[in-house]
Amino acid sequence: MRQLTLIFLALITTASATANAAQDLDALKADTRKQALPVLPRVVGMMQETVAAHGAMAAIPVCKEKAPLLLKEQADKTGWGMRRVSLKTRNAERGTPDSWEVRQLADFNIRAANGEKVETLETGEIVSESGMPVYRYIRAIPVGTVCLSCHGATESIEPALRTELGRSYPNDRATGYSLGQIRGALSVKRPL
Ligand code: HEC
Repeated sequence: MRQLTLIFLALITTASATANAAQDLDALKADTRKQALPVLPRVVGMMQETVAAHGAMAAIPVCKEKAPLLLKEQADKTGWGMRRVSLKTRNAERGTPDSWEVRQLADFNIRAANGEKVETLETGEIVSESGMPVYRYIRAIPVGTVCLSCHGATESIEPALRTELGRSYPNDRATGYSLGQIRGALSVKRPL
């Protein structure tokens, strides 16, 4: 009987530790979202305004400089790592995913194929890096209408723009997208 009580107590303790860990993860995810996600609609808004006012050619710096800058500002403020990654990069130097990110991006593609909404695809997980716990969070970046002028089917890209992109990015893989697909993801690395 005593033994049974002990087993029972051990089970309760394990269950409540699991519940606490799940709560911690939810809190971490909520806080990470709050700090990182507002950057995404800001970039889209800036992109829409710039394309409407000055044309797509003039909007190259929004994706090339503004988006990384806004992420860097937020990264400096929080002390976390923040960047954009993709399975098909335009700028491989900046946007090549590491193995954890590759796995999550592949998983996003499967989840999207199974009907999940691309706009809300995300994953958060505590992993160990060099023996230290790190919270990693990744959120899909969907292709909107304004993105197609530079990431859509090659033949649909304005010739002058196509030439310009080809000159700057000879290994560009970030074309051929259609509306609603996953362009890439925002990836956050948060030391714990
Ligand atoms: C005016 C052209 C243009 C438009 C429009 C555009 N992009 Fe880009 N995009 C670029 C360029 C140029 C790069 C490469 C940036 C660099 O050098 O780091 C890029 C890179 C990216 C990357 C980083 C990964 C990679 O492929 O290197 C993501 C993610 C991205 N774009 C998403 C979007 C989304 C989402 C939209 C629509 C809201 C969009 N882009 C609209 C030109 C554009």
